[in-house]
Amino acid sequence: MAQYISYNSHTHESHNIKKMVCLASPLINFQRKNHERGHEQSNTCLRKYVSAARQYRVLLTSFDLPGYRLHQVSMRTYSNGNMPVSSIDADEQTRVMGIAMNGGDGPHSYAENSAYQRGYFEAAKEVLKEEIVAKLDVKQTSSAFRITDLGCSTGPNTYLAAETIVEAVEQRFKSQGLHSPTPEIEVLFNDTTLNDFNTLLRCLPPERRYYATAAPGSFYSRLFPKASIHIVYSACTICWLSRIPKEVTDETSPAWNKGSIHYDNGARKKVFEAYEAQFAKDMEVFLQKRAEEIVNGGLMALLVAAAPDIMSDSVTTLATEFQVLGSCLVDMAKQGIISEEKVDTFNLPLYYTRPKELKELILRNGSFSIERMEILNNKKEHVTMPNVERRTLFLRACFEGLFGQHFGYNIVDELFDRYAKKVVVSSFYLKPENQKTLMLFVLLKRNDDK
Ligand SMILES: C[S@@+](CC[C@H](N)C(=O)[O-])C[C@H]1O[C@@H](n2cnc3c(N)ncnc32)[C@H](O)[C@@H]1O
Repeated sequence: MAQYISYNSHTHESHNIKKMVCLASPLINFQRKNHERGHEQSNTCLRKYVSAARQYRVLLTSFDLPGYRLHQVSMRTYSNGNMPVSSIDADEQTRVMGIAMNGGDGPHSYAENSAYQRGYFEAAKEVLKEEIVAKLDVKQTSSAFRITDLGCSTGPNTYLAAETIVEAVEQRFKSQGLHSPTPEIEVLFNDTTLNDFNTLLRCLPPERRYYATAAPGSFYSRLFPKASIHIVYSACTICWLSRIPKEVTDETSPAWNKGSIHYDNGARKKVFEAYEAQFAKDMEVFLQKRAEEIVNGGLMALLVAAAPDIMSDSVTTLATEFQVLGSCLVDMAKQGIISEEKVDTFNLPLYYTRPKELKELILRNGSFSIERMEILNNKKEHVTMPNVERRTLFLRACFEGLFGQHFGYNIVDELFDRYAKKVVVSSFYLKPENQKTLMLFVLLKRNDDK
């Protein structure tokens, strides 16, 4: 049985709630005000929280309350019983890397700076609807119909996706006539435990036609009971690896990625290969877990940020954003603002697959048939990110957490200022024709159990 702890940030009291369904949000909200009053108060809250956590065996998701923007700590407890050990391990890995987009709805939030990702959804929307209406197997449905958005983050994108999928499901059931009334629909919003679920739940559209549930945890672990999900949707997510490949942080390995934060340097083939191998491992786990959770005949729609199958290093801007950010960090290390060692030990957990590679990994796993796989014509960057400011905000909304946790939140403003200054004088980065990132639409169907 799952246990939750509720924590009141005003009275600093913790309560153990032994129920499967927790009526209060299972999230702890360190209110913005607390941070504005300074770290002392936050630290007092945190100490009490940590001791409550020890008492009740809570998996802490963040010991670091670095700034006013991260105003939430989420958590989940594990019982002795039915949570598989492997899922705890995967969750831990994600937690260590602390993946989460910027929360809240302020000027640096993901909610306010995710138009680029919305371009992906808009490009896929009609295909997504069309495929669900044509291919959904309504016979597999019992009383409730469950949809999940894996890696939903916060902001409008996930609500738009949920609404579109619900509409398509309703249309599919209606087309079956009176013998198949549309069942009640539940949408399970998943992201890592560090995601700002408070903002996500607070801003749910009031007129929605589904029950909404937060489902925190890593999608590299089991998130849902066996054969309980009918449609999985996941956009701009599987490029996030479960961990940094070990070799790139190992000084003795030929893949050691000294002085760089990604596989952006064509000369370091071994670094790229280490990322490539990690992606293959992660994809196998991702598909395996989903195969367990999705009903036979259920669908999985993925929107994937990818690279072209054939690509010359010299003509792509793919991953070069990270090259610029990396070079800013190297400059800051040279000026003594951060240590060189910090730069050498930082790597981004991101990998852009290629269509052929992804197809092979899905076929190798064998649990799904590929119903549709195509490159979509998404809006080019000059439409969604027409200037340096928007581009900087987009990157900051996604990566501030990772940089802040590793280098300290005090360097984040300077890092992104430096980035903006470098990009604005570059003739390369802001040219849409240099933008080679692809958007793949992939629709998979769960095969009958092998
Ligand atoms: C770029 S955002 C995409 C958000 C949303 N799907 C959209 O289209 O706007 C990627 C999201 O994936 C989440 N994510 C990354 N790794 C994850 C994991 N292992 N489990 C669950 N969510 C993950 C991140 O926290 C982030 O919210």
